Amino acid sequence: MKYLMLRSLETALRRRASSSSLSHLSRRSYSSGSNPERKVAVLGAAGGIGQPLALLMKLNPLVSKLALYDIAGTPGVAADVSHVNTRSEVAGYMGEDQLGQALEGSDLVVIPAGVPRKPGMTRDDLFNINAGIVKSLCTAIAKYCPNAIVNMISNPVNSTVPIAAEVFKKAGTYDEKKLFGVTMLDVVRAKTFYAGKAKVPVAEVNVPVVGGHAGITILPLFSQVTPKSNGLSDEEIKALTKRTQDGGTEVVEAKAGKGSATLSMAYAGAVFADACLKGLNGVPDIVECSYVQSSITELPFFASKVRLGKNGVEEVLGLGPLSDFEKQGLENLKAELKSSIEKGVKFANQ
Ligand code: 2OP
Repeated sequence: MKYLMLRSLETALRRRASSSSLSHLSRRSYSSGSNPERKVAVLGAAGGIGQPLALLMKLNPLVSKLALYDIAGTPGVAADVSHVNTRSEVAGYMGEDQLGQALEGSDLVVIPAGVPRKPGMTRDDLFNINAGIVKSLCTAIAKYCPNAIVNMISNPVNSTVPIAAEVFKKAGTYDEKKLFGVTMLDVVRAKTFYAGKAKVPVAEVNVPVVGGHAGITILPLFSQVTPKSNGLSDEEIKALTKRTQDGGTEVVEAKAGKGSATLSMAYAGAVFADACLKGLNGVPDIVECSYVQSSITELPFFASKVRLGKNGVEEVLGLGPLSDFEKQGLENLKAELKSSIEKGVKFANQ
């Protein structure tokens, strides 16, 4: 009986996996096939986001080596994750002495390291602690794997990405095509909330989210959503926009002091990392939203749709037509995003 229940759960999970964007999670596709060797390092792998992210990266058949780094706790996480019967070899690295080894040879470095929000805090309130952590991790990246693609999850992303850019510039290793702020969770939330409201299948929903990754700097472009639902009023679109902007805070409040989004953040981070790996491997037409160096507005960093390729960013795509509400949202976010960028640049150079 128990066995049967487990079997049917497994079948249901497998069905779900093959219909989602993480379709490679289905058991059938666990073999490495002809995928090239790819080393992925997760920095902050023993944390709330890092642990589920480590597991999801272990499920990704595009990964051949998975390096799990943190200041403590990684031997246990690595031993645990390493028992999952998928392609990648897993190794845990603990403490600054082992950071170089964790990074050496990496194609992709994902950074969820740092502290999360508590109720009442904005992402910017994390700046004082996380900015220093990101600065030292990026200094090590410049030294040990200067050509790796970097996926920044540590908040405030609006400032930590400019910090990383400045650190890499100083080290002479900056390649704007390889530095990404992960804004995928905003897209994931916009898709989920829209599908619920418009009563359309969530797996079919696509919606760009542009700007940055904090409060009003998160701008979902519901005027470009597919499939379209003509039934949604302007008020409903406004409410969906606000819910997407406050999605992280919704989780922070529900967790009531026990942190911020970890599981959905890990999912979004894993989906984005997978897109980067596909781009590296030459899979065509991989387009996702990300916060990157940009010239599509006057701001030097901006999230928009990005085409991913063998060298990272292949093309930063324009915003497309905006509704009046979105045009206003775009104007409203610029001052905050500009000052978050400047704060990061200043910190990195002091
Ligand atoms: C969020 O949006 C953790 O920043 C992340 O919830």
